[in-house]
Amino acid sequence: MANLRTTKLGIIGAGAVGTSVAYAALIRGAADIVTVYDLNSARAEAQALDLAHGTPFAHRAKVSGGGDLDLLAASDVIVVTAGAAQQPGQSRLDLVSTNAEIIRELMPQLVKRAPDAVYLIVTNPVDVLTEVAADVAGLRRGQVIGSGTTLDSSRLRWLVAETAGVAPRDVHAMILGEHGDSAFPLWSNATIGGSPISNWADEAGNKIFDDATLADLASQAVLSAYSIIAGKGATNYAIGLACVRLVEAILRDEHMVTPVSTVLRDYEGVDGIALSVPCVIGAGGVQRVLRVPMDQSEHDAFHRSGEAIRAVLEEIGQ
Ligand code: 2OP
Repeated sequence: MANLRTTKLGIIGAGAVGTSVAYAALIRGAADIVTVYDLNSARAEAQALDLAHGTPFAHRAKVSGGGDLDLLAASDVIVVTAGAAQQPGQSRLDLVSTNAEIIRELMPQLVKRAPDAVYLIVTNPVDVLTEVAADVAGLRRGQVIGSGTTLDSSRLRWLVAETAGVAPRDVHAMILGEHGDSAFPLWSNATIGGSPISNWADEAGNKIFDDATLADLASQAVLSAYSIIAGKGATNYAIGLACVRLVEAILRDEHMVTPVSTVLRDYEGVDGIALSVPCVIGAGGVQRVLRVPMDQSEHDAFHRSGEAIRAVLEEIGQ
């Protein structure tokens, strides 16, 4: 028998990121109802109308938008993109005081209306704000997720795929830690078509992923948001798709493995702060936090990410 349960995706923020999430959700048929909220109700209504006009060419979905938080009632997943955006030259951590206040104010109001929703925090600095959101929400730990390094990992997979000449989906590689300047790739478990990346060779048998190449790809993946922001003022399409994959994994109980930001309990010695590590994502959000082997340099990099986030949390009295 067909599954007749209606799924509802709520999106907070009708800016470039929020509307890219909505657009990707409609094209992919991720949810039956897509609702966009913004403090600027005229903007949210206009974005919703524009998106709704495209639905005859997409999957069947009901789109609404406005400035009333009651619109979010009974959402299954709420993607939070509201807040100040990074300007050229700013780091994600520079946004913290403005955006932490927004999250502290918003989350209790959302939880009141949608206590069973999974909350996907996207606003930067996402790791700090995932901790803040989880703290004020008082929900189950797995119910508040930060998009974290899902995006950085997809950037890395694309870069590796381009270099190897294979499809990005055949590259398994993760960036972990802070979604920010201290993010690092877990090269020790990266594979291409199932083989360790260090073994990958071109047709003539030459290994192409030497240390210098790996370092260059890692730095491109971690720094690429800066060049995109310098060029067009924001990043939005890839994060839109990344969020919608997470939304699908939650709504379809996919048990998808991907790095997301989650409040950690004694993970490689890091405790009580949110950082990205590989997790199983399905109904209810993070179902399992996976322990992955890290070599010494990866373990040290993970700790540097932890220290960077802890320092910012202290700065904002969290
Ligand atoms: C990104 O990495 C700016 O966090 C945003 O695209």
